[in-house]
Amino acid sequence: MENISKFDPPNFGWLQVKLSKNEMDFLWESIENKGEVWNSSLAGNIACSNLIDDKDNWFFNNVLRNLMEIYSNEYPQIWSIHNQFAGVRHPLTLDTWWVNYQKKGEFNPIHHHTGKFSFVIFMKIPTEYEDQKNLPHAKGSNSDCISNFEFQYISTLGDMMPFNYRMGKWSEGMLLLFPSQLMHCVYPFYDCDEDRITISGNLTYNTSISLPVEEVEKAAEAQQKKEELSQQKKEWGDIPVETLKSYKKPKIEKVKLKQKPLKKGIFE
Ligand SMILES: [Fe+2]
Repeated sequence: MENISKFDPPNFGWLQVKLSKNEMDFLWESIENKGEVWNSSLAGNIACSNLIDDKDNWFFNNVLRNLMEIYSNEYPQIWSIHNQFAGVRHPLTLDTWWVNYQKKGEFNPIHHHTGKFSFVIFMKIPTEYEDQKNLPHAKGSNSDCISNFEFQYISTLGDMMPFNYRMGKWSEGMLLLFPSQLMHCVYPFYDCDEDRITISGNLTYNTSISLPVEEVEKAAEAQQKKEELSQQKKEWGDIPVETLKSYKKPKIEKVKLKQKPLKKGIFE
């Protein structure tokens, strides 16, 4: 035998980032000035959710724009999924974002978002997974759901695969950016009277703004080059360098997270 290769077919993952103190301060201030009640537009079985405002587009310009760029570089194929109608002339902008105050027993059922990219930010997590798992009704269970955030996606076998984030103080200040179609849910926590505070939002094309044709053509050309570079070759056993570059890193992070909760953000 020779040239044995293992294949992990490409899929669309997500970005995990630890926000800086400055960025967190901005978010806490935005939450203080929260706007209208937003519950009726959300899947969450959560009593209190409010829209918030991105003052002077600060969070979009300093954080979200960069993360979308990084995502598009890591997963260039997302562009052809997002841009189903060739030659979209509208910029991706922050459509809506809101704050959730989740109380014990409340939950967010499996759902996806509207938009192209979405994100969640863990502001305050008053419980530790290890303590929640020790509660009488969870202790004997063979699942690790209680109090956690979970992505779900289809495997090559056609099954729904869970990817579970074990919630605790370690996750405060963490942002996850993901394609809006990616299914996810939040399981309830118990035995704690403090609120769990998270922010979520959606980024989508702003159709009230039309970009110049030349700008769109230039961006499309650059994107096509990225896609060509990362396209998998058809020959069996031949792993293209670009594929390894794009997908190997997230896979390693996933193994770390599965075995035990990650204590620090990957960009710290
Ligand atoms: Fe969500």
